Amino acid sequence: MDMQHSAATPSVIHRADYRPPAWRVPELALDFDLDPAATRVRATLSVERGGAHGEPLRLDGEGLTPLAVRVDGVAVNDWWMEGERLVVPLAGDAHRVETEVEIAPDRNTQLMGLYASGGNLCTQCEAEGFRRITFFPDRPDVLTVYRVRMTADARRFPVLLSNGDPVGQGELPDGRHWAEWHDPFPKPSYLFALVAGDLAVNRGTFTTRSGRVVQLGIWVRAADLPKTDHALHALKLSMAWDERVYGREYDLDVFNIVAVDDFNFGAMENKGLNIFNSRYILADPDTATDYDYDAIAAVVAHEYFHNWSGNRITCRDWFQLSLKEGFTVYRDQGFSADQGSPAVKRIEDVRGLRASQFPEDSGPLAHPVRPEAYLEISNFYTATIYNKGAELIRMMATILGPQSFRAATDLYFDRFDGTAATCEDFVACMEEAGGIDLSQFRLWYSQAGTPRVSASLEHQAGGGRATLRLAQHVPPTPGQPVKQSMVLPLRLRLFGAQTGQPLTDEQLVLLDQPSKTIVFETVAERPVLSINRGFSAPVVVESDRSPADLAFLSAHDDDPFARYEAMQQLMLDTLVAGALGDAADHQGVVDAVARTLDGPDLDWAFLAEAVLIPSENFVGDQLAVVDPQGIHTAREALRQALGTALADRWRALYDQTGQGAYTYSPEAKGKRRLRGVALGYIAASGAPDAADLAFRQFEAADNMTDRQSALSTLVNLGGPACQAALDRFYTRYAGNALVLDKWFQTQALSSRDDTGAVVAALARHPDFTLANPNRARALIGAFGVNQRAFNAADGSGYRFLADQLIALDRLNPQTAAKLLPPLGRWRRFDAARADLMRAELQRIVAVPGLSRDLYEQASKSLE
Ligand code: ARG
Ligand code: ZN
Repeated sequence: MDMQHSAATPSVIHRADYRPPAWRVPELALDFDLDPAATRVRATLSVERGGAHGEPLRLDGEGLTPLAVRVDGVAVNDWWMEGERLVVPLAGDAHRVETEVEIAPDRNTQLMGLYASGGNLCTQCEAEGFRRITFFPDRPDVLTVYRVRMTADARRFPVLLSNGDPVGQGELPDGRHWAEWHDPFPKPSYLFALVAGDLAVNRGTFTTRSGRVVQLGIWVRAADLPKTDHALHALKLSMAWDERVYGREYDLDVFNIVAVDDFNFGAMENKGLNIFNSRYILADPDTATDYDYDAIAAVVAHEYFHNWSGNRITCRDWFQLSLKEGFTVYRDQGFSADQGSPAVKRIEDVRGLRASQFPEDSGPLAHPVRPEAYLEISNFYTATIYNKGAELIRMMATILGPQSFRAATDLYFDRFDGTAATCEDFVACMEEAGGIDLSQFRLWYSQAGTPRVSASLEHQAGGGRATLRLAQHVPPTPGQPVKQSMVLPLRLRLFGAQTGQPLTDEQLVLLDQPSKTIVFETVAERPVLSINRGFSAPVVVESDRSPADLAFLSAHDDDPFARYEAMQQLMLDTLVAGALGDAADHQGVVDAVARTLDGPDLDWAFLAEAVLIPSENFVGDQLAVVDPQGIHTAREALRQALGTALADRWRALYDQTGQGAYTYSPEAKGKRRLRGVALGYIAASGAPDAADLAFRQFEAADNMTDRQSALSTLVNLGGPACQAALDRFYTRYAGNALVLDKWFQTQALSSRDDTGAVVAALARHPDFTLANPNRARALIGAFGVNQRAFNAADGSGYRFLADQLIALDRLNPQTAAKLLPPLGRWRRFDAARADLMRAELQRIVAVPGLSRDLYEQASKSLE
């Protein structure tokens, strides 16, 4: 670690240092006198000594000054500060401790704690935001019953919401009013929430299976009310799904969701009062794509499911974060799969895992699903904790089978309800209900890195035996040079190369040794291996399957994911060869894509996924040294070859997928997706009318999916039609922040040569602001994943990102830190680029007063 970061070098928190809380806080009364510039917070904590010890009461705070401290109603002055902590000596085993502080929500640009967004006041407390509101033991294993009273100006803040149930409200003489809420469920401080604002509500009801009538409300600014039906519908579906699939019922009479424009991530599961980034609530066909609709349903479900996996059972400490996040992602993935095509959902999730988690696992920020240490917990809300964590749950579900898995989750919910639990507690329930030993499986929680599996299949001709040799290797990661063998559940099956028929049943192989040999007797014809079907283990498979075998599987495999995967592998091999400068042979891919397009009975969305070629980043991840330009050229060449060779088919599909007036159904969505892919290939072919076709689609579209796909195509093509479309789009949606984000993002993702310059200019556009995280992510975040543009040989992309991060860090460290990882990929590039990237990381680390968030990410990226 860089010692120059002298005064502020933050200290490392270790999992091994966990100690139960010295004091419990069974009850808390909060009294807010709300005002954007100066909010008074009075907190009354009932505290109880936890066991026999002589420790004083230590309360976390951040940027707070105690204005008063009272113990059992009497003002005291024997308290002191330890850094930011308030320490109060207490003589007995139970006391009432009151504190008073003043905070300024309108100056809170970090968006943690109590802050202002669009004239309203709202909170974000996970992970450690509550300490910015009041002094409290701000850790997830202190479970407290909250009573919250809010007083505010009745005209500016007519709506006052908090957790639990409303228990009282009234008018005050000076134009102010008050409301009081009570949450009967003990909860950790990170689940506290309040909202004060001028909001309209879309109301609904849900009757639980035991007959509780729950009042549902989605709160937004009045003009956005027409865009809330989809989210409300998704909420009702989620509530029914969790009853049906996990036996989980809602437990309060009220469930509210509030949408805000300024939010550091997706949404937050505060008990009874979820607060959302408005991008995951607001949708209508004119402004939201099908992708947005799906994401809204998934996030609404995710936050709702947290009511059990997160709130009723929370985490003992933040090292256990994946206990709630991995499991809840697994649950929301199951929900989304049940709403449409499970195969397509699985493909999307695996693509996401490969785009975000695999690179994390092979880079400087790699960490286990249950980390051992951190500087800043906000940096651990990662794809590893969330998405790899979900894969761990999925593997256990696969190993247990559906009935035992359900028995295991029932046991977990029953046994740990009302407690702060650990990942170990969850795994122990899986073992107990499944009657199995998961000792070795636990390595998935402690070892970082993506395992690699090699698979080779030999066959004795003439109906002899087939021998499958499997071997695993877990690569070293920071702090973990040597790895143990893991348990890899691999679903596999053999197919006959001649007949195309399955030669075996599907079987589940647990590869739990460095290597393993599996023998299949009397295999009638040459077998082709279908392995890791459904992506049963989050690993990289290296097989010796020929291009012909991959093409065969892409046509014949009965597992849709495996069929998709075979095509991806075939395309990837072609792209890697092209990027390495080998003479490009596109014919294999062209034939396989043609066969898929001509094949029977595949649904539109699956087709669209199957014929889409891997991203430039994913190709880069396969190479020892990423050559951004070489990859781009190879990929564009394959796109052009596919566009040209299959031109008639793309045209036919494009026409076939044109639709009448917009409808929202899995079939209509699938058609729109495939239409966008077909348009992309028509453009890639260099067809002279491509820009016209795209512009016509842009103009005629009655929904954002078609408009956006046309705009993306035009932005990649450039020229006058591109500029016209960008201008029209901008004018049409002026004032709609969520749609303007798309305008920025589409340009930042462009494959054109001038994208670096365009992005730099957009950063000076009057509508660009670093203060809004969605806007920052739309431009800066998208640019960081545009492999060729970001990795311009002159280092301009690196310098731009570093400049933006340094500026953003002063406002919002959490969001800045989230955008840093592209700069940490320097080991993957040539020496010239690596030097340029490291120089920018060093420049960041040297900034005086840098946040702990950005410091941790930048310094680790240099190691
Ligand atoms: N628990 C929230 C969710 O997954 C996200 C909280 C993110 N917090 C953070 N500090 N990044 O639904
Ligand atoms: Zn979550």
